[in-house]
Amino acid sequence: MHKVQKYIAEDLKFSNQTIKEMRINSKKFYNNIKDRRSIREFSKDKIDINVIKNAILSAGSAPSGANLQPWHFVIVKNKSIKKKIRIEAEKEEENFYNHKAPQEWLEALSPLGTDENKKFIENAPYLIAIFEKKYSISKNKKIKNYYVKESVGIATGILITCLHFSGLAMLTHTPSPMTFLNKILKRPNNEKPFVLLIVGRPDTKAKVPKFAKQKKKFDEITSIF
Ligand SMILES: Cc1cc2nc3c(=O)[nH]c(=O)nc-3n(C[C@H](O)[C@H](O)[C@H](O)COP(=O)(O)O)c2cc1C
Repeated sequence: MHKVQKYIAEDLKFSNQTIKEMRINSKKFYNNIKDRRSIREFSKDKIDINVIKNAILSAGSAPSGANLQPWHFVIVKNKSIKKKIRIEAEKEEENFYNHKAPQEWLEALSPLGTDENKKFIENAPYLIAIFEKKYSISKNKKIKNYYVKESVGIATGILITCLHFSGLAMLTHTPSPMTFLNKILKRPNNEKPFVLLIVGRPDTKAKVPKFAKQKKKFDEITSIF
């Protein structure tokens, strides 16, 4: 029979807000986050790497299955590496848009006006490649991770939220397959690319598709019992 281990306890750090504060803060948060938009035109403005580091620290604070933290983040600022990534991503995207993608998928994407051109990969000051780890390796031993996709998805959401909160814009980019990222970024076989985030300030002329702002209403996405 499974025996419950005693854990080493610590005091909890918790903001004890009043009901009113909770209501105000949750509304404030919503009013801020609802204006997050994926952008595809970035300015070449330099960004302090500490902002990116803080966003990754925030992601690293995420909950994860058994606290195994099955993620790895690669910050890319080097121009020639960005160029290599763009070349490989555009190869995959060219194949996707012109051969691989079913008509239904192309129709779903059409309001966004995207195509195989990924100039933003080179223009943006930072890329963050996020890798999920099916298992980790410690002292030459494989350690299985649990709920990997769920954990990495939550961490990525926190990262994106921190970037937005810090005044940066981003794009979740997913050329498929993304295995070229392992090669270019020298990541081992137990890691699989999850998403590639393109991060920076929007170009002064950046526009976003009107379609992207149209989010489902509360009642469409929620049931209450
Ligand atoms: C998992 C995931 C993959 C995505 N992949 C791409 C992509 O490869 N290229 C792209 O231009 N946008 C991509 N997007 C961005 C979506 O098109 C965008 O989130 C959606 O249109 C809603 O717009 P918003 O982010 O401004 O709310 C992706 C988003 C997610 C969550």
